[in-house]
Amino acid sequence: MDGLSVPLTGFRVLTGTANRPLAEEIARSLGTELCRTNVTRFADGEVFVRLDENVRGADVFIVQPTNPPAENIMELLLLVDAARRASAARITVVLPYYGYARQDRKDQPRVAIGAKLMANMIMRSGADRVLGLDFHQHQLQGFFDIPVDHLYAAPVFTAHYRKKNLVDPVVVAPDVGSAKMARGFAKRLNASLAIIDKRRPAANVSEVVNVVGEVEGKDCLLADDMIDTAGTVSEAARALKKLGARDIYVCATHGLLSGPAVQRLSEAPITEVAITDSVALAPEKRFPALTVLSVGELLAKAIRFTHADQSVSSLFE
Ligand code: R5P
Repeated sequence: MDGLSVPLTGFRVLTGTANRPLAEEIARSLGTELCRTNVTRFADGEVFVRLDENVRGADVFIVQPTNPPAENIMELLLLVDAARRASAARITVVLPYYGYARQDRKDQPRVAIGAKLMANMIMRSGADRVLGLDFHQHQLQGFFDIPVDHLYAAPVFTAHYRKKNLVDPVVVAPDVGSAKMARGFAKRLNASLAIIDKRRPAANVSEVVNVVGEVEGKDCLLADDMIDTAGTVSEAARALKKLGARDIYVCATHGLLSGPAVQRLSEAPITEVAITDSVALAPEKRFPALTVLSVGELLAKAIRFTHADQSVSSLFE
């Protein structure tokens, strides 16, 4: 069933300041308006949150990615708290980007596990469900003891690349961790698969050790869940070019584009970088080869299905 034809009553969508344009796009796709809220700061920077509309008995969806600054997290937790205290019937946290999720295990002595702490805070604030998009690891769903619907941006990207008539395409995973995502893309695009053996000699330094698979003379699609400093994909693109790849396209759900990312992506042999609007992008981070695809309609459909208690996984069949 087309998610946009499910009838909707008794639900509200609200957001903080982390990515208002995406929340507006979701509301537009749902044929509604965002619930009026007052999300401001006290003079010392503390976050203040107030819902300016009645949500008593409503099915409430709170859209907020948790990328830095940390106030984005505080806004989310306070919005959940406000909705709970205002007697919402059910609260779903919509996480277009699950920030603080990269540290998901104790792989060195005395490190915090940010992903679990985030899950604990979201649950303790009063959320009943989570609707997430391309978590850094799929198993992070298990960090929550409430239902999690985990969405993929893959349908948005594959629709984009199907229009491009790629020549003998090969989807390339820039590291072993992205192989599952890349395999999914390859299947949807009827492409072959290659995997890069990446090493990180130091934090934020990426080194390509080996490319497993055939890329010579082929259009390559490097698919990752996120681009942070762009060290991973720019090094991968260089390695592919050296091996005789044709055009190189990069796609990643979450375009954090921090530090040297824009410069690295602009200088690398990349034809196009496609990201989604899961995280709000500052205007100065836009560059000619960048395309931003919206996940607003995808999230809106998932909200409709959730509200109507219908299967969300049918979105990906
Ligand atoms: C690694 O596990 C991730 O999938 C990304 O490849 C990585 O986080 C990207 O970081 P950067 O853009 O800084 O290389």
